[in-house]
Amino acid sequence: TTSTTTLVLPVPSAAVSTPERRRTTRHYLVCEPRHFAVEYSINPWMDPSAPLDTDLALAQWRALVEVYEALGHRVSRIAPVPGLPDMVFAANSGTVVRGRVLGARFRAPQRAAEADHFRTWFQANGHPRVVMPTRVNEAEGDFAWTGDLLLAGTGFRTDPAAHAEAQEVLGVPVVSLSLVDPAYYHLDTALVVLSEATPDHRAHIAYYPEAFSAGSREALRTLYPDAILATPEDAACLGLNAVSDGHNVVVPREATHLSARLTESGYTVHPVDISELRKSGGGPKCCTLEIRA
Ligand code: ARG
Repeated sequence: TTSTTTLVLPVPSAAVSTPERRRTTRHYLVCEPRHFAVEYSINPWMDPSAPLDTDLALAQWRALVEVYEALGHRVSRIAPVPGLPDMVFAANSGTVVRGRVLGARFRAPQRAAEADHFRTWFQANGHPRVVMPTRVNEAEGDFAWTGDLLLAGTGFRTDPAAHAEAQEVLGVPVVSLSLVDPAYYHLDTALVVLSEATPDHRAHIAYYPEAFSAGSREALRTLYPDAILATPEDAACLGLNAVSDGHNVVVPREATHLSARLTESGYTVHPVDISELRKSGGGPKCCTLEIRA
């Protein structure tokens, strides 16, 4: 007697090891670079004598916002203020986690006045209980929410004491990380959260190890063994200053290695040109403050 049995073998697929990269709708606060300029230098990218095309900066920023809108995200706008050329970098002005808002306190006097404009915006837009920090705190420039932890950078801008303050105000666990390369003066120039932690998966991040102290590097390796490690070239175009909704990642177009790794890992990459904003040391993420309900 002959009988045939068809054996159905499990097909090894990427899905076994790679979690589904699910998008969630985000709410972003942005500030049009109508008064953008490089008039002073508070980081190594800024050269006030270098040529800057402010019309192009505006066009590049508008294209960035169009990507967010095309992806279905909610975008709110704060009015730019003359005399505050760095106000376009909205990420530096607030950390919003689970509806709680911690404002900013800038290190450079040239940016100090920005903090109050954002405080006023939050108060007028559903967040009356903004807490203003007592220590230097450049908000999402140095704080990255992973879904279960707040990664916190220090070394150039945000005071380490601001990390404890953030934990107290926001009520979430904070992990301090030391930045050591002046070119990567904010955490968001060296690390990006690609997908947030879920009950089944740890958060997925990408970072540039050389931007961190040896101990911080070890801590990142322990927390995120499956992270994407960026190359010096990825970092040097501010490729890590990217914005992810869990599936779509908006990335400076020069970051080709990082983009390839993102695609392999199941993300959809949206390249953007940020040549003019980069002359101030900023990229997509710096322009984007995330409001987490
Ligand atoms: N020129 C600005 C500064 O030095 C750039 C800020 C960029 N923002 C950021 N989140 N990394 O403060």
